[in-house]
Amino acid sequence: MKNLYFKKRLLIATLATAMFSLSLQASSNKEIKMEAKAAIMKLGKTLKSEVVKNMKANGPVSTAYFCYKNAKKLTKKVNATYKKGISVKRISLRNRDKNNYPSSKDEIAMLKKLSAQAKAGKKLPKLIVEKISDNHYKVYKPIFVGKKCIVCHGDAKHRSKEAYKIIKEKYPNDKAIGYKVGDFRGAFVANIIK
Ligand code: HEC
Repeated sequence: MKNLYFKKRLLIATLATAMFSLSLQASSNKEIKMEAKAAIMKLGKTLKSEVVKNMKANGPVSTAYFCYKNAKKLTKKVNATYKKGISVKRISLRNRDKNNYPSSKDEIAMLKKLSAQAKAGKKLPKLIVEKISDNHYKVYKPIFVGKKCIVCHGDAKHRSKEAYKIIKEKYPNDKAIGYKVGDFRGAFVANIIK
């Protein structure tokens, strides 16, 4: 009888611990998502606002040169403002800058999966959290082509000839053309190391 009582107590204690650790995991997943989202938005906003500002003031030729000169620097600068253990970059399978090609198998697999989903007409999730190891997460945010992007990433008919002259000169292996509005372009990926 006493034995049964202890067994019951033990079961309750085990269940309570399991539930507690589940809720801990859920809250830390949510926290990771929020941290990643804020970091990604910060880089995205910085890059976009610089491009838009330059396009308005100086046009596509000068802006193409500006991106070539400053995208990496701006990315580094924004990354330096993040909390330790967080970093964000942009990746694409049809990349312009060789540094923006995914750096690991899991990133290539994720981009291939997202690209296939987009091709099949599926709506992509806003954020995807992938657990790499107990303390390492990657959070992806898909990037799509908008009207403003076609000047430098569209097909020969739609992009700026003059701007593309500079781009081709700086990136002879450029694969980031031929895009249409709405196309899947790549992703921001936040590395979160706890
Ligand atoms: C004035 C020309 C120009 C415009 C407009 C432009 N880009 Fe780019 N884009 C570039 C250049 C140059 C690079 C390579 C330098 C960099 O940013 O890393 C690049 C790189 C990128 C990359 C990094 C991956 C890669 O291929 O290297 C992404 C993602 C990207 N552009 C998306 C966009 C989106 C989305 C828009 C519209 C909101 C846009 N671009 C508008 C010129 C442009």
